[in-house]
Amino acid sequence: MNVSIIGAGGLTGKELISLLVHHPDFEIVHTTSNKSAGSNLSDTGVRYRKDLVFHKHEDPIPKDSLVVLAVPNEVSLELTPKLLEKGHKLIDLSGAYRLHDKEIFGKFYGLTHSSFDLMKQVVFGIPEIFRDRIKNANFVSNPGCYATSVITPLFTLSELRQNISGNVIVNSASGVSGAGGRTEDIGFTFTNTYENFRAYKVLSHQHQPEMEEYAFTGASTNRSKIIFIPHLLPAYRGILSTFVIHFDRPLEKQDFDGIRQKFRNEPFIRFYDNPEEIELKKVQNTNFVDISFRFSSDVLVMISALDNLVKGAAGQALQNMNLMCGFDERKGLIPV
Ligand SMILES: NC(=O)c1ccc[n+]([C@@H]2O[C@H](COP(=O)([O-])OP(=O)(O)OC[C@H]3O[C@@H](n4cnc5c(N)ncnc54)[C@H](OP(=O)(O)O)[C@@H]3O)[C@@H](O)[C@H]2O)c1
Repeated sequence: MNVSIIGAGGLTGKELISLLVHHPDFEIVHTTSNKSAGSNLSDTGVRYRKDLVFHKHEDPIPKDSLVVLAVPNEVSLELTPKLLEKGHKLIDLSGAYRLHDKEIFGKFYGLTHSSFDLMKQVVFGIPEIFRDRIKNANFVSNPGCYATSVITPLFTLSELRQNISGNVIVNSASGVSGAGGRTEDIGFTFTNTYENFRAYKVLSHQHQPEMEEYAFTGASTNRSKIIFIPHLLPAYRGILSTFVIHFDRPLEKQDFDGIRQKFRNEPFIRFYDNPEEIELKKVQNTNFVDISFRFSSDVLVMISALDNLVKGAAGQALQNMNLMCGFDERKGLIPV
């Protein structure tokens, strides 16, 4: 299957190229970056099995290739309808097609949605929740990195989500590669993050409505609010999220035995006995989401960790690409 990556010069685009090096069934045929246009991939430190030249963003995209958009939201809004019209299978890493409420989208993204009709056909790309739909999809919206670190662990709580009482409080800390500021915001530079730690976008992060829309999928009645507080870590990659959740009854050990059992065949979910075991270095450069729980009476503390550039972006995109193309979803991510 041929693959074109638009925005291949960015963090997530380059990460995807590195993952595809090990994939026997995908062949990258087209990469774009205006900044690096004309240079070879290898000149920019990206090693692929053949040398590719970066094209300009507006250059024609090879017909019949699966397209991955690793571009800003507003660029995806503009490109997506055109690419779907041309019949490409499409994975969008931006946030342009994740929210089904147009007003909330406008409020959190500061953009007017120009092709909201496509929300009827897009599939949200968390395989652990929507695997069957992804297999038949032409258009997958890859989730946000923080959103994956919150939605997937909450989803594993399964029926217990019905017993959540009140708001779910989540404190997340991300390395700078996922903190969504990167070069454009001086607050995210090395000198402002090294030896520093702070919250940002408190109660206003664009992934909060995404969490609220998807984390309770399959929990018919409960729709708790998620109080999400992102923090900026003096590290490059990885997100660690700490949840505090109240329940309407005391929890018991058996509540969690069933959960581990239910998700035991998920290739990228790992449960740990102790929350203290969850740490960035176990998930960096992997597609795993690590999760652990501890409760005291009716209060649960859950901790999760993932790599924002892999399970939070390019790795999950590759999992989705595998599913969309009928390959083993683990291919290129762990030995199969
Ligand atoms: N970083 C993460 O952890 C993460 C996780 C999940 C999702 N995402 C989302 O994934 C997308 C890409 O993120 P990133 O971190 O890789 O961003 P990035 O490092 O800033 O890279 C953005 C890429 O988009 C390209 N681009 C800019 N304007 C364009 C245009 N008009 N047409 C086509 N391409 C254009 C850039 O081109 P040049 O190479 O010419 O600069 C660059 O290659 C964003 O929507 C982001 O929110 C990021």
